[in-house]
Amino acid sequence: MAWWHVVVAHPLPALGVTIAAYVLWLAIDRLWLSPIAHFPGPKLAALTMWYEFYYDSFLEGQYTFRIAEMHRKYGPIVRISPYELHIDDPEYYDVLYSRDSPRNKSLHLVGMFGNAGSSFGALDHRRHRMLRQPMNPFFSQQRIRQLEPMIRRLVDKLCKGMAAFRDRHTPLHVYHAFNSFTTDVVAEYTMGESFHYLDDPEFSPHWSTTIHAIVLVGVKFKQFRWLISLFELLPPWLVKCINPDIGPVIEQKQESLALAQSVIDSQAASSDPNSKSKVTVPKGTLFHALLDSQLPPEEKQASRLSQEVFTVISAGGETTAKNLSTITFHLLNNPEKLQKLREELERMDPNRTASLVDYESMPYLTSILLEGLRITNAVATRLQRSSPNQVMKYKDWAIPPGTPVGMTSYFMHHNESIFPDSQSFIPERWMDMEQRKHLEKYLVAFTKGSRQCIGIPLARAEILMAIATIFREFDMKLYETTEDDVRIVRDMFNGHPRKESQGVRVMIQE
Ligand code: HEM
Repeated sequence: MAWWHVVVAHPLPALGVTIAAYVLWLAIDRLWLSPIAHFPGPKLAALTMWYEFYYDSFLEGQYTFRIAEMHRKYGPIVRISPYELHIDDPEYYDVLYSRDSPRNKSLHLVGMFGNAGSSFGALDHRRHRMLRQPMNPFFSQQRIRQLEPMIRRLVDKLCKGMAAFRDRHTPLHVYHAFNSFTTDVVAEYTMGESFHYLDDPEFSPHWSTTIHAIVLVGVKFKQFRWLISLFELLPPWLVKCINPDIGPVIEQKQESLALAQSVIDSQAASSDPNSKSKVTVPKGTLFHALLDSQLPPEEKQASRLSQEVFTVISAGGETTAKNLSTITFHLLNNPEKLQKLREELERMDPNRTASLVDYESMPYLTSILLEGLRITNAVATRLQRSSPNQVMKYKDWAIPPGTPVGMTSYFMHHNESIFPDSQSFIPERWMDMEQRKHLEKYLVAFTKGSRQCIGIPLARAEILMAIATIFREFDMKLYETTEDDVRIVRDMFNGHPRKESQGVRVMIQE
């Protein structure tokens, strides 16, 4: 009897045999034939992506800690999935996150958040370079210095809102306050329009819930990207019904799309002498920078521009707010360090007129910033890169081209031989300038190389100005908050504390 007669006569057993044969073939391929089969690591992780799923989706953000165990058992390079390697060796960071050698990103990393049209989401190094190039001047140190009056105005607004909490004798959830501040800053700068989260007397707690919901969906479903793509295709009202917490993101995306379109329309109208259009749109935004650039026309469509701007806002708000919250906890938890900060500010800025440049020159304030970046681990996850064409060498290992390799900031920042007593907040380790230079090599909060964070000057400016101001303006006490509310025990792309944590809360004193 021909084999197809067997299939037709016994479809279910035939299906079972086919599946079994496929699984067997997959196992042989992954365990013995794969170009990374010889790398050390648990066989189960090499065999199936469900291994990572169990730790990250089911146990919520535990794979990073499992990877740490693998390194303890198998050494500095391990195979952590059928496709991916991980390295724990601080000296290799500059090689993997190279500025000069081409590095592609991994879909497993950026697919979590959709927005494939943004520079953050660009997988190919050539496409990334093209998209990033016109954004660089917009976020340069020089441009951010010009932004100082705007940041100052929003720091003042933040203080006004905090003063209202003091007067109401109500505990303040500092992350809500800081997330409103950082999101308003980055939205106003990039879109020319703020979301006015700081104007809400409660500091828009729904926005923090939204951020949390996005991250949760992204991490839980990172292996099921089609679900995220499907979500993006659904009508907004349906998405809001399925997950109401996502609502504000949809509104932001719509707002950013409408703004992109109106900037495009107004530019078209201004180049047409017969146009009677009187559309008023903000000036000098990131939309303008991109539209005025050399990007090809297909990269200047409203939908791509709005993805780019939306990604910048998402990337810039949460991360910086997390740093501010963690630094606030540690300063309040270490009164002698807070006292040192206040003394430095009194000494170097007695009239409270310091500029951003002055803050940048204050040794203790900047040490707090650096120690905050280290211990916060705002982006705690491994950031995979691959070398498109060339073999990457790690010690005696040859890593085949195209293999995603990750390193993790959390491991770098808690390497005890570089940062002793790494779970403690010790700004003093940054005070000696020679030592600071040495340690900065291993501070990778913004990662390194060609895909390094574009928002470093903005993030530094926000953190320095906010910390220097609020700790002179207010006396605060921690409210039902302990070290467990900032210590990272879950990697949800961003570093998260225990699940039950209410976050950092303070009472502002009269
Ligand atoms: C302390 C605050 C911040 C931290 C710790 C941080 C960290 C990072 C990290 C680790 C990456 C690399 C992600 C990857 O490889 O996939 C990144 C990329 C990025 N960040 Fe930040 N970031 C911060 C603030 C900001 C701010 C304020 C902005 C707004 C301008 C911003 C915008 C971006 C963008 C657009 C990218 C993608 C860059 C690219 O792929 O070319 N970030 N950030």
